[in-house]
Amino acid sequence: MARIMSGVQPTGNLHIGNYLGALVNWVRLQEQYEAYFSIVDLHALTQRPEPEALRRAVREVAIGVLASGVDPERATVFVQSSVPQHTELAWVLTCLTPLGDLNRMTQFKDQSQQQPENVNTGLFTYPVLQTADIILYRADRVPVGEDQEQHLELARETVRRFNHIYGDTFPEPQVVKSAAPRVMGLDGESKMSKSRNNEIGLFETEAETMQKLRGAKTDPARLRRTDKGTPEVCNIFSYHGFFSTESQRAEVAAGCRSAQLGCVDCKKMLCQNLEQVKGPIRERASELRSRPGDLDSILERGAQKARIEAEKTMELVRERVGIWSGS
Ligand code: TYM
Repeated sequence: MARIMSGVQPTGNLHIGNYLGALVNWVRLQEQYEAYFSIVDLHALTQRPEPEALRRAVREVAIGVLASGVDPERATVFVQSSVPQHTELAWVLTCLTPLGDLNRMTQFKDQSQQQPENVNTGLFTYPVLQTADIILYRADRVPVGEDQEQHLELARETVRRFNHIYGDTFPEPQVVKSAAPRVMGLDGESKMSKSRNNEIGLFETEAETMQKLRGAKTDPARLRRTDKGTPEVCNIFSYHGFFSTESQRAEVAAGCRSAQLGCVDCKKMLCQNLEQVKGPIRERASELRSRPGDLDSILERGAQKARIEAEKTMELVRERVGIWSGS
């Protein structure tokens, strides 16, 4: 069975960008592939979170992953730091990665701008650890949003280099994108992200979401209720594309063009449809929260299985690169 691997950082709560860009594919692909899904807490250290906040976020993000439909009976769900082989392999790969390749990474530049007071080396070598995450499980496919494409190109490059130097060892991992690989934020200007504070949280209530939607950008031509609009340029209409039925979309588009439908009503309709997705996820999440012992054992079982696979890969890697194993 071919394998998939993917990860999510425990930095704040999951949002609908994570859900539409990655999680829907995790849920779909777990049926056809042997799946490894990780809460990548070591990656989150690059932002120096408060220790307790980090542990809490690991728990909440794991809950979000499971509540979205990832089935721990099918997929291996684990916390990255529970499998020390990730950092061991990352070091081996660091020694194969030219500085120039990392210098080109746009996420490093973006993140450095967002935390200019803490441009640490981990931020720079972040994609190397990500490559280790993937190839430790010899994954063939990686379901991620568009923002991870450049990291995946680097991962493939690293695999080619490793295989060339040490002999064929790893498959080249391919990106699997969803139908919504780049969900825009509520500001309509940049992609939805935890750090830009422009997100619709997956656990938000309907009222919380409506509150945010009220302030969200729409077609700038619709200053007054009577102004006619162009749905194609409206960020809210793009969300309708993900959450509303075809006939609802046609109704919204016609109403917007003719000014029969106001932006607030358009947002209310979206909010209700969003709730159809978020409501059941929120319910499953609160049930998981009420049984913390179960979550611990799911993550422990996942870690045990991941460690076994990771160790198989590392035995091979150590032998190939010449790491000392006694005489
Ligand atoms: P992270 O935690 O930022 O995001 C998790 C997943 O959600 C996707 N995503 C989006 N998709 C569409 N629109 C958006 N606005 C949006 N925002 C986020 C991301 O593309 C990602 O798939 N470096 C990774 C985590 C990682 C990883 C890995 C991923 C670490 N190791 C190994 C795959 C394989 C990250 O920061 O994702």
